[in-house]
Amino acid sequence: MKEEKEEPKVYEITEDDQPPELEQVDIEKERLEKQAAPEEKSAVVMAPKKKAAGDPANGEKVFKSLCSVCHSLAANSVGPALGAVAGFAIASQEGFQYSAALSAKATLKWSDTNLDKWLANPSGFAPGNAMAFAGIDSGKDRADLIAYLKG
Ligand code: HEC
Repeated sequence: MKEEKEEPKVYEITEDDQPPELEQVDIEKERLEKQAAPEEKSAVVMAPKKKAAGDPANGEKVFKSLCSVCHSLAANSVGPALGAVAGFAIASQEGFQYSAALSAKATLKWSDTNLDKWLANPSGFAPGNAMAFAGIDSGKDRADLIAYLKG
């Protein structure tokens, strides 16, 4: 009879062990919730680092919002086609009638530096040119645009 009384004591011990196990489950849930938030924040932090190097995807967005009213890559419209501009001679797109101001720069090429100066301040680069555009202040947006134009 003494042996039967000892067995229930063993079950009581296992019941005492259960509450700590439930607490550990709660801690794991909290850790997972805390881990999820920093991962989202770190992903947001990484995006601007890529843009700083010249992001053609952002350049396309800038182009569509600021340039596409007058330019396409494939054909002349209000402004000349821009698909074959980067690295080529200034004012050299066939079939487009450039201003005298921009034609005077035709001995130069659209290097990254010249494109950057033009996009920052068109009237400063070629005074009297026909592109009615004030310029882009953001150096990052200009770098992204140039990356997009270089394809
Ligand atoms: C209001 C219309 C207009 C807008 C907006 C505009 N452009 Fe232009 N763009 C022109 C015109 C017109 C010319 C030709 C200028 C000339 O002959 O003096 C030109 C010329 C250029 C050239 C020289 C091309 C060549 O063949 O030498 C580049 C590069 C250029 N634009 C890029 C851009 C970019 C990039 C944007 C957007 C940030 C932009 N332009 C916005 C009208 C525009």
